[in-house]
Amino acid sequence: MSLHPSGSPVSPDLPTLRVAVLGAGTVGSEVLRLLSQQGGELAHRIGGRLEVIGVAVRDLARDRGEHVPAALLTEDATRLVQEADLVVEVMGGIEPARTLLLDAMAHGASVVTANKALLAQDGASLYEAADAHGVDLYFEAAVAGAIPLVRPVRESLAGDRIQRVLGIVNGTTNFILDAMTRTGASFEDALADAQQLGYAEADPTADVEGHDAAAKASILASLAFHSRVRLADVHCEGITAVSAQDITAAARMGRIIKLLSIVERIEEEGGERISARVYPALIPDHHPLASVSEAYNAVFIEAEAAGSLMFYGQGAGGAPTASAILGDVVSAARARVHGGVGPRESRYAELESIPLDELRSAFYISLTVQDRPGVLAEIAGTLSGYGISISTIHQELLDERGEAGEQARAHIGISTHRALESAMTASLDVFSSTATVLSIDSILRIEGE
Ligand code: NAP
Ligand code: HSE
Repeated sequence: MSLHPSGSPVSPDLPTLRVAVLGAGTVGSEVLRLLSQQGGELAHRIGGRLEVIGVAVRDLARDRGEHVPAALLTEDATRLVQEADLVVEVMGGIEPARTLLLDAMAHGASVVTANKALLAQDGASLYEAADAHGVDLYFEAAVAGAIPLVRPVRESLAGDRIQRVLGIVNGTTNFILDAMTRTGASFEDALADAQQLGYAEADPTADVEGHDAAAKASILASLAFHSRVRLADVHCEGITAVSAQDITAAARMGRIIKLLSIVERIEEEGGERISARVYPALIPDHHPLASVSEAYNAVFIEAEAAGSLMFYGQGAGGAPTASAILGDVVSAARARVHGGVGPRESRYAELESIPLDELRSAFYISLTVQDRPGVLAEIAGTLSGYGISISTIHQELLDERGEAGEQARAHIGISTHRALESAMTASLDVFSSTATVLSIDSILRIEGE
């Protein structure tokens, strides 16, 4: 007798749940592989069988391998979702995904989606439809692929008070920054390598401009702070402006540059607001996030009673993402078979977002300046005029005064103590209209200290 649970027969009396899969690309094809290879075990875990009734794609002619049977493919996603008990959405994009999911729920199906862009832009409509039709909405795979993060925030920590979530939630940009740090490559060269190796998409905009990380930050902030935090509420800066010089300057200061997603509760006199933001930041090279290499993700959650928790793993890729989806499929299917509902939207706190201008951060700024007496004093004077205190200064001569009397230039890298974002913006405005400052080359925040 086989001891492997998949070997034990599945009772023919178990109910059958009809599953529609929307999309059979990187993630969808792995979802279908796991559903077919682990069907027996999943039936035992659920107490019901999963029957894939169709797979919606755009191109019916494409061969998709043995786990995506051609007979299941359809271009008619609208009909498919109306016949399902469970819809797994892995097609991506806003439309037609949104309309299909709303239609699926209206027809009584529970939904599992990996679509962070849709959740961040219009999660409210999906939650409302799930409530209105008494079905479940699960989306573990939408944030950090295989890493359990949505369920811990939404369920395991539901009795605690989350203060801050800080982490690396985009694998592509971490791969690029890691390559720049290890090899000294420029952003452009590291991106080209990442594309050749299949880590970055042909159109890398969503990743390198920070949009993907911002969508994940909006989902995490909404869950952590029981408030609706829309994509538009997330301050977002990508990594396209990070230069090889920034990486070198960071290393000189014992720091490393990572694209961070930060969502936090800001306690103020008379209340609290929340901040959700994504930007490349300098962190100490001994910080646990500094050792997160290649395309891995890692996230810290700080909660009042639980203290600090760290989650680490593969944040992308077909199989890791499919693992998170299958976990959601099991949860949603169990509820269909045994009754009960999954977690609903929790937004009772209705906390407002704090504008970036009102936040305090430590900064690193890098300027190209005229090399002549008094320039440093002028820069320090501007910063101190806005209440910004300098922590360190590094100066390097770029070129000597030429024979024809050309101006000599120097590079100045300044790190500051924590200061108001609006004060830094005002200082940079002054620098950009001062003859002594030839260019503002970088402005990065310092975190994790
Ligand atoms: P993908 O490889 O581009 O696959 C998308 C699939 O959806 C394709 O099979 C495509 O059909 C189908 N599709 C797209 N538009 C459609 C339409 N209008 N009607 C019918 N079918 C349509 O995408 P993916 O990488 O698997 O990502 C899917 C979702 O998972 C996205 O929301 C993404 O953000 C999320 N996600 C992805 C990862 C990852 O590592 N890839 C990780 C976490 C979350 P054709 O094959 O015929 O073109
Ligand atoms: N493009 C994302 C990343 C994976 O690079 O992490 C999907 O969330």
